[in-house]
Formats: sequence, C-alpha cells, structure tokens
Amino acid sequence: LQPKSLRGLRVLVTAGPTYEAIDAVRGITNRSSGKMGYAVAKAAAAAGARVSLVTGPTGIPGPAVAETVAVTSAQQMLEAVEARVDEADIFIAVAAVADYYVLNPSENKIKKDAHILTLELAPNPDILANVSSLDKPPFCVGFAAESENLEEYAELKRKRKHLPLIVANDATKAIGSDEVELVLLDDAGRHVLALADKATQARRLVEHVARLYNANNP
Ligand code: C5P
Repeated sequence: LQPKSLRGLRVLVTAGPTYEAIDAVRGITNRSSGKMGYAVAKAAAAAGARVSLVTGPTGIPGPAVAETVAVTSAQQMLEAVEARVDEADIFIAVAAVADYYVLNPSENKIKKDAHILTLELAPNPDILANVSSLDKPPFCVGFAAESENLEEYAELKRKRKHLPLIVANDATKAIGSDEVELVLLDDAGRHVLALADKATQARRLVEHVARLYNANNP
C-alpha cells in the first residue's frame, strides 16, 4: 500500500464564486461552477489530509470532507479563512473571488424606474495575498484564470503574491467545462497537466503539492 501523500496534514481550500449584494434580491458575482475547487478538496482528502472547504454559492453538492463552510461574500470568505488558517499546513485558493463589493447595499428591493442607477463599488480584500503575507504562512497555492498571455500573467501573479506554486488555466475554456488543461508554475519551472477531467487534474495537482510540501518539510 502506498503511504498517503498528505497524511496528517491540514488543508484549507476556497472554492466557487463570491456574491456581493446590490439589494435584497440582486447581486454581482463571478462565473465559477465550483467544480475545480470541490475536486481539489476531494483529492486532498483522498490523499489523507484533513480538509476544510470554504465555499461560495455554487448550487452543486460539495464533497464529503472534514469541514465545509458555506459563505456568500468575499468578506465572509476572508473571515472563514482567517478563522482557520493558523491550523492549516497548506492553503489552496481556487475561489473566483469578486474583485469588488457594492458600497451601501439596499436592504429592500430597489424599485426600478427610468433613471440611471449608479452603483459604487469598492475593492474586496485579496484573501490569498493576505494569507501568503502572514508571518508564518501555510504552503500557498493560487489559481490564475487568464484569457490571454496565460503563463506570463500567471507567473507575474505568482511573484506578486509570493506563492511557491500557481495553477494557470485558460478562462475561456475552463469555466464550467468538465475537461481542462492546467499548467503548474513553481520555482523549478513549468509542468503541463495534459487535458483531462477535473477529478484527474485535481489528483495530479495534489500529488505535485505534496511533493513540494514534503520536500520543504522533511
Ligand atoms: O483574481 P486573481 O486572478 O488575482 O486570483 C488569483 C488567485 O488569488 C486565486 O487563487 C484566487 O482564489 C485568489 N484570490 C483571493 N482573493 C481575491 C482575489 C483572488 O483569494 N480577492
């Protein structure tokens, strides 16, 4: 029997979109099915980790992992992550966090009329950058969904957020689809995970994360 590569480790995963309320019934969000994040959480659990999954609203059933926390907004996602990050050995940020939230959302449904409606948007906190800049950060893995210059933009993002590993995927092909090609970028270079379903890609990613983590923490 192969020893499980993440046995005894605690892995924190974010998944899905966030939803930022405009009023009681409307909001702004990102396109994200949650499938990739859920597959990563499931693969980490299968590798022996104790997994906490913090998920935005997806409408699909989540995987059976040690703990699942359902959140709505980026601020709630940040708080759920902050409450758990000190315990985590590895943080994998798969969520498509909304870049902005609506200032002063209306408690009641806004009545429509013929006037122009102006929304004031304020930037959301970057959850991953907050975690990776902690004094003792867990091993941080980011995702970069890009529609052009995929690997160049992903590597810039990896450097800017000080990540040992980032997963580049083509946003125009990946969202909601069942099969994706991924490129892993780390200090050793690039590793292509050839087109496969998200469960397979998640297993390959988790094995790569385990190799890097275990090499740094013998
Ligand atoms: O949005 P961006 O392309 O910068 O996202 C890259 C990575 O950062 C992803 O792993 C995403 O989950 C994470 N992120 C985050 N909080 C944000 C924006 C992005 O954790 N507000």
